[in-house]
Amino acid sequence: MKKILVLGGYSAISQAVLELLAKEEVILYLVGRDIQKLEIVRDHLNSIGRSQVYIEAMDLNKIEEHRALLERATKQMNGLDLLFVCYGVLPNQKKLEQEPEKALDNYFTNAFSTINFVSLVANYFESKGKGTIAVVTSVAGERGRKSNYFYGSAKSCVDTFLEGLRHRLFSKGIKVVTIKPGIVDTPMTANLERKTLMAKPERVAQDIVKAFEGRKSVVYTPWIWRYIMLIVKLLPGGIFYRTDF
Ligand SMILES: NC(=O)c1ccc[n+]([C@@H]2O[C@H](COP(=O)([O-])OP(=O)(O)OC[C@H]3O[C@@H](n4cnc5c(N)ncnc54)[C@H](OP(=O)(O)O)[C@@H]3O)[C@@H](O)[C@H]2O)c1
Repeated sequence: MKKILVLGGYSAISQAVLELLAKEEVILYLVGRDIQKLEIVRDHLNSIGRSQVYIEAMDLNKIEEHRALLERATKQMNGLDLLFVCYGVLPNQKKLEQEPEKALDNYFTNAFSTINFVSLVANYFESKGKGTIAVVTSVAGERGRKSNYFYGSAKSCVDTFLEGLRHRLFSKGIKVVTIKPGIVDTPMTANLERKTLMAKPERVAQDIVKAFEGRKSVVYTPWIWRYIMLIVKLLPGGIFYRTDF
């Protein structure tokens, strides 16, 4: 049975992914801040599939507790095959422009806590000679834009980190997958005015589950975002800086 550790066990995207995973015989270890939300997800998964589900409440910003968390999860599941990282915050861009001192939470949650836990799991997988690390970042990390560059810069930090980690682990049989969703209809984006090209979590989840088994290192979801971002990245500054997105 595949053993899967999910950080952000009740994020909307994770829930859609878990819905698909739970159809198989898998062992799941879900981590999130709120034990009651985790219990709801666990009970639902138990009712729809054949998976074995463990839950643990933790604020993942508490990086000093990461080693113990990994030990508990690997002990409980008797190993680990896949780490899926799918949590984060969308900070208020306008507020941080005026109060950059408050940006730490964004960088800590969206970048550093992820980097810390992924590093520990990378070492664990390296010692076993196998494993998959899949991390949800964002297309927002591809080019800084005025509407969300605090969030985007944290995500691009993780992108660059994962690229380096992939390079390190390439010859060791360990897969590192970067998953870049476009805009997804979740609580995180509930307050956004722009709804163009917004995908449902269920659509994105299909691509994510495929990515766990596939050969791609970087997956855009839905696929159209690969081409949208290609154009966005190629736009010369003289045009890009006049746009309003
Ligand atoms: N929605 C989009 O358009 C979009 C696009 C690209 C990438 N993403 C990425 O997809 C991932 C999942 O987000 P989502 O869209 O599914 O939104 P979501 O439902 O709001 O999920 C975000 C989750 O992160 C959790 N979280 C935040 N800080 C945490 C911490 N310190 N410790 C533990 N958990 C923490 C939240 O838990 P609480 O409820 O307890 O705060 C929440 O469950 C995120 O990495 C996000 O950046 C989303």
